[in-house]
Amino acid sequence: MERLTIQQILDDSNLEVKKNDIEYCLMDCLGKDKVFLHTRKKYLLTIEEQYKFNRYIDKLKKSIPLAYVLGSQPFYKYQFIVSPQVLIPRSETEILVEEVIKTGERVFAEKQSVKILDLGAGSGCIGLSIAAEKPEWFVCLSDFKKEITNVIHQNKINLNVKNCTIMVVDWLTAFSQDSFDIIVTNPPYIDKSSNKIEKAVKKFEPSHALYADECGLSYIKRIIISSKKSLKNNGYLFIENGYDQSQEIKNFLVKNDFKDIEVLLDYNNICRFTKCRHIDG
Ligand SMILES: C[S@@+](CC[C@H](N)C(=O)[O-])C[C@H]1O[C@@H](n2cnc3c(N)ncnc32)[C@H](O)[C@@H]1O
Repeated sequence: MERLTIQQILDDSNLEVKKNDIEYCLMDCLGKDKVFLHTRKKYLLTIEEQYKFNRYIDKLKKSIPLAYVLGSQPFYKYQFIVSPQVLIPRSETEILVEEVIKTGERVFAEKQSVKILDLGAGSGCIGLSIAAEKPEWFVCLSDFKKEITNVIHQNKINLNVKNCTIMVVDWLTAFSQDSFDIIVTNPPYIDKSSNKIEKAVKKFEPSHALYADECGLSYIKRIIISSKKSLKNNGYLFIENGYDQSQEIKNFLVKNDFKDIEVLLDYNNICRFTKCRHIDG
């Protein structure tokens, strides 16, 4: 195996991989930052570093997403471990974290406590970011497979989050009545026949995190119906949804007596989130 310097790697135009991804792989293999890469270009990789780097590049050449190659992804203010069993956290989902925190602050000011459920938590990026930010709040994170909740556990330990619990549950089936002030969910919402989904997403991200029946709305509708029981009176439901689903979700929420329905926009001004309130009677 030929050992290369940082300079030789960065100058190699035959790697067929994005320059940015190469830099992230190098930083990971060397345990160094970007400044090191650009100020120590004559550094010769050790055999172990070169071997690890070559394996990363082989995977990237097969179009495996960088987050799965490195096993982690930045989200909000933290770094999250990811495995092929969990969705790679997306930056637009950070909007949901910020909105839940804003609403939670109002609930906390009124009641001196907040109990939140992150439903379909995947890596735990939403719920653990909130719990890490607000140690006096309590967050429950749930997903439906042990392999997934194991990833949440690892992230909980890495972030040193204490104010949360993690459960293996099929959606809301195991939660008792009036349990939460806020339920936040980014459920699978892509129509199985959609041709808008990127190739690498389709090939490498888990289908249980992506697809739902009824034009992508089956899980969202199920969650809306059952959250009425699990939310406390005046509790909030936050949903991440597809770019063309807001109107149908609004109609369904109205039919199910939810109040204060608001559609929230993503960074491209697309309707991607729905916020609403469950008010008894
Ligand atoms: C779009 S991913 C969101 C993951 C994470 N919350 C995020 O924002 O990156 C949807 C999540 O719903 C979970 N899910 C699918 N079916 C479920 C079920 N029956 N009960 C609970 N969670 C489920 C998937 O495992 C996946 O983690």
